[in-house]
Amino acid sequence: MDRSLFRANARLEKARLAVVLGDVEAGRREMQQSQHDAAGARDCWIAVGLDAQIRPQSSHPVIVAGRELALWRGETGPAKVWDDQCPHRGMRLSFGFVRDGTLRCLYHGWGYGEDGRCVSIPAHPELAPPKTICAGAHAVATKYGIIWSNLSAARAATVPEIPAVTDWRPVRSLYIHRSAAVVLAGIAAFDYGAPAEPATPAADVYVVTLGAQTQLLLALQPVEANKTGVHIASSGVDATADRLALVRQMHSLRDAIEAGTGPSR
Ligand code: FES
Repeated sequence: MDRSLFRANARLEKARLAVVLGDVEAGRREMQQSQHDAAGARDCWIAVGLDAQIRPQSSHPVIVAGRELALWRGETGPAKVWDDQCPHRGMRLSFGFVRDGTLRCLYHGWGYGEDGRCVSIPAHPELAPPKTICAGAHAVATKYGIIWSNLSAARAATVPEIPAVTDWRPVRSLYIHRSAAVVLAGIAAFDYGAPAEPATPAADVYVVTLGAQTQLLLALQPVEANKTGVHIASSGVDATADRLALVRQMHSLRDAIEAGTGPSR
């Protein structure tokens, strides 16, 4: 696990404990430090979900390397990835709801605009919230039908480039109870039922070319030490029956990796 994220997670737990014990100021300090630690995370883009799965006006919890995040979308526009903690008292923002383009915390209803800044405090409607009250927003990009996020402050890395194919369609997100390394090895060893030409255009990203037309993109999301998300898109699989067969095959892939049974369809 990324050490910066590990430290950030520990700070976040301390912040929640401080708030529960009534020391709101200490909780706020720990939350700020947690954001600071998370900013030192590895500079890379990590798949966090399929774009088609995140409906307008919805919010979802996501975990990357143990770091709790809120993945949400307003009425329109791209999804956002924020730290899953309200700057007020640490409530999970993924429990919140979307109104008028803002993500509202379920606890006291504070609303946060798309850039993360607090824009409304219902208990004090006359108050313009200070600019310093800000949810931890991370870089996000949508490519190949997959939502990617970079948790680092550096953000020099670019989203993995996958040449040639432009018509990626979402297949399924799977969560496998094995480490990312084991999942990657399982993907490489799997029998796809056709001659397979594998490529790894970036760490934790695997592309399989099957025959002349079909390609599979499998982007890994390390969740915890022994749990990994796999967000899958395909190209050249258009007929409904073929797409259903592909989903079944991906379930077989998950089962084979969890069972440790090696190559299997
Ligand atoms: S904890 Fe979120 S508004 Fe109070």
